[in-house]
Amino acid sequence: MARNLTALIVDPNLDSRLEVVKILEEVGLDSAGESAYGVEATYLAAERRPNIILLALEDPPMRGLSTAESLVQHAPDTPILVYSSSPSPMLMRQAMRAGARDFLEKPLHVRELRTAVHSVLASEEQRQLARWAEQSVAQARGTVITVAGAKGGTGKTTIAANLAVAIRQVTGQEVAIVDGDAQFGDVAVMMTLDVRRSVADLAREETEINRLTIQPYLARHDSGVMALTAASEPDDWRALQANHVVDIAQALAETHEWVVMDTPGTMNEVVAASLNEAAIVLLVSSLDVSSIKDTKTALRILESWAVSPERVRLIVNDITRAAAVTPEDVERATGKEIASLIAHDAQVGLSVQTGIPIVQSNPRSRFAREILALSESIAGLTEERQSGFSLARLPLLGKSF
Ligand SMILES: Nc1ncnc2c1ncn2[C@@H]1O[C@H](COP(=O)(O)OP(=O)(O)OP(=O)(O)O)[C@@H](O)[C@H]1O
Ligand SMILES: [Mg+2]
Repeated sequence: MARNLTALIVDPNLDSRLEVVKILEEVGLDSAGESAYGVEATYLAAERRPNIILLALEDPPMRGLSTAESLVQHAPDTPILVYSSSPSPMLMRQAMRAGARDFLEKPLHVRELRTAVHSVLASEEQRQLARWAEQSVAQARGTVITVAGAKGGTGKTTIAANLAVAIRQVTGQEVAIVDGDAQFGDVAVMMTLDVRRSVADLAREETEINRLTIQPYLARHDSGVMALTAASEPDDWRALQANHVVDIAQALAETHEWVVMDTPGTMNEVVAASLNEAAIVLLVSSLDVSSIKDTKTALRILESWAVSPERVRLIVNDITRAAAVTPEDVERATGKEIASLIAHDAQVGLSVQTGIPIVQSNPRSRFAREILALSESIAGLTEERQSGFSLARLPLLGKSF
């Protein structure tokens, strides 16, 4: 048998309460309890979770209003319907301000009360549906991966472009790449993309960046990765500000499971915004002494920007056997475990020249295999993280070198 809806009656006047109880049944409501104003009412609302609260309000209304406010605070999902024998406009306004959803005049009539209860419950249901929809959009947010580094030329863009394609290959999910190096960005060159509209055009032309307005600015790579490329005009990059980067990351994460953001080799406000939006930061360093020193500084900067260390994964790229510094030296100097070591691979240069990501043109090459391993680990990592896995427990990747 279907359960009736329940109502809690909050009314300090015993006779009036009895009157309301009497007509409840005719309205099709069960009583969830009765109380006067004050803590008892809040306690009953929180404990019995009625579908609706019927609250009496008479002049002077102070105690009734403060009870209504406290009910809204403790049982925010339970709508309050106020009734009064002297419904002045002033009292109505005060009741609505305190959180009441409707206001009825006494004596209560069955039909009127039934209509009011149903309309209040229907609008409460709408409100909750809208809230759930909002929450599920927020929960469905894709993972933003920002590729950064303290120095130019450490392989950030090569890694970002190949990682985007590799994640697409490994997961088959929607992937976007953003060239956040608005001045010298070369994602479009590395992926042979047709640049019609750039990230700077988007920043300049759209007053609101969202998942709809961003669409015309995305170029499709033949792997299926969608790219927002850098400006081709030399001075255009100034248009891109930190707030744009935040909006871009959020808009793309609503429609793509993965958003890879490439950044320039300097730490500025725009990079800070990309780092803040990231669930995973790949900090790319090389094995030369100045890069290690700068990586150490970058780790400190990231910490001061409130990018928590467990989000940051250190990648050491372009490793040659001849390097004077070892990966262990890097870990010792930076105090950070290396998450991935990527070897020097002569094939990379060729791939950059031809504009075909090496994970496509030569998937068996060493660089491609290491990027594929990294993308598999990131994809698996995110799944496990969603079930409470800790980033810190991930084993070192690709330490075969
Ligand atoms: N593992 C590697 N083996 C061989 N060459 C590499 C490797 N990684 C990167 N390179 C080469 O290094 C050069 C610089 O790489 P890339 O442009 O990706 O660096 P970047 O960090 O994005 O530079 P910038 O800071 O200027 O944007 C490229 O020509 C690329 O071919
Ligand atoms: Mg670059």
